[in-house]
Amino acid sequence: RTANIGVVGLAVMGANLARNLASREGNTVAVLNRSRGRTDALVSEHPEAGFVPAYSYEEFAASLAKPRTAIIMVQAGAATDATIDALVEVFEPGDIIVDGGNAYFPDTIRRERAVRETGINFVGAGISGGEEGALNGPSIMPGGSDESWVTLGPILKSIAAVAEGEPCVTHVGHDGAGHFVKMVHNGIEYADMQLIAEAYDLIRRGTGKSPAEIAEIFAEWNRGELESYLIEITAEVLRQNDAATGEPLVDVILDQAGAKGTGAWTVQTALSLGVPVSGIAEATFARSLSSHPEQREAARDLPGPSTATPVDDEIAFVEDVRQALYASKIVAYSQGFDEIRAGAAEYGWNIDLGAISKIWRGGCIIRAQFLNRIAEAYAEQPELPLLMAAPYFADALGRGQEAWRRVVVHATNAGIPAPAFSSSLAYYDGLRAERLPAALVQGQRDFFGAHTYRRVDRAGSFHTLWSGDRSEVEA
Ligand code: 6PG
Repeated sequence: RTANIGVVGLAVMGANLARNLASREGNTVAVLNRSRGRTDALVSEHPEAGFVPAYSYEEFAASLAKPRTAIIMVQAGAATDATIDALVEVFEPGDIIVDGGNAYFPDTIRRERAVRETGINFVGAGISGGEEGALNGPSIMPGGSDESWVTLGPILKSIAAVAEGEPCVTHVGHDGAGHFVKMVHNGIEYADMQLIAEAYDLIRRGTGKSPAEIAEIFAEWNRGELESYLIEITAEVLRQNDAATGEPLVDVILDQAGAKGTGAWTVQTALSLGVPVSGIAEATFARSLSSHPEQREAARDLPGPSTATPVDDEIAFVEDVRQALYASKIVAYSQGFDEIRAGAAEYGWNIDLGAISKIWRGGCIIRAQFLNRIAEAYAEQPELPLLMAAPYFADALGRGQEAWRRVVVHATNAGIPAPAFSSSLAYYDGLRAERLPAALVQGQRDFFGAHTYRRVDRAGSFHTLWSGDRSEVEA
């Protein structure tokens, strides 16, 4: 039989994506895996899907209608390169290879360039939503050529999540644009998760409430402006008791956070682009800090605050934390969208930020009510220079900033680490400031390295003769 789409790599994400594809009208799906066992298992467990199994790349290519379209769902890195090489051997000009993994966007740019030489199209597509999203509808962020989008667009639209009646997929931009945007999505995901974790920690340590009680608070928050997948699952995690000990599960999970690298890529890329994504950076560093048990052990006896910081009014405190969370979340998204804009400028991608906010409304891990507000902000002003200054967000920050300050003060006084809350607030105040001590930094740079400075009152570059008579010269 002839398939119109194929999937290579049948681990959970690949298998679920293949089942999703097969469940849509008009699709026949060819499947291929490195080991035969997985292919057979998938085909026999899901007869309803009508899969076309292939046991070699030749067979796989022969089972696909032209232009052949295949989605690779294998480990990022060497496994992806090997799979691409194998497909290039059996595919023909005009065919399309889609990498649906979490590839690092410079790799995608490199692969696209190399594959293009053969006349085959290569599309790096970010896919978010975990196993469940892959099966029932993910958010999809494809890059690649306009030509491949013609064939691929309808297929991806058929399997994507739907938000407000629109499929959560758009042609993000050429070559690595899709994986770039997926990378930033993950960076925002890190920030969002860390902010929620800080909120939980502040409430727990401030009020002594149990995880199950805090779960109720999150469930309540999920009915308001914070409504999102991550808040929802946080309540579920906090509600869970460990079967073995009867303790809250969160108390028996080792407090060392893992990371597969996408958060670090987001921060590394932001550093080279000169975009301050401080919330994402703090979230990434917080995971690293947690994962150094030897240093945490060595620091255990360092002194903390000498007096206790009691929370007098628990209800007011919880509300303050909620507002601090919302404000910090606005900052994290604002920073993330800045990085996308800077990346687009650097790599020559024409990325519609409003369209990105729309495809994140459903299917992905950071899906949230809030993304509707971002979509509205970009609809009103497509060239918005700073998301957090858009009227809706400026207003929300204005309402929340006093609470945000109280929470950061409480965290500081109580010795509770809240790196994402406090760095987001510092970013907010930094951008707001009329004058920054950056002027002094420029003076210092000029002093030791004659790096020159510009003046507020005259054009040009200047240098003070620090080791001479300290007069100023034009550089
Ligand atoms: C998604 C997720 C997904 C995955 C990441 C995060 O959008 O579906 O972001 O891509 O969970 O790999 O993983 P780490 O937290 O391990 O970096």
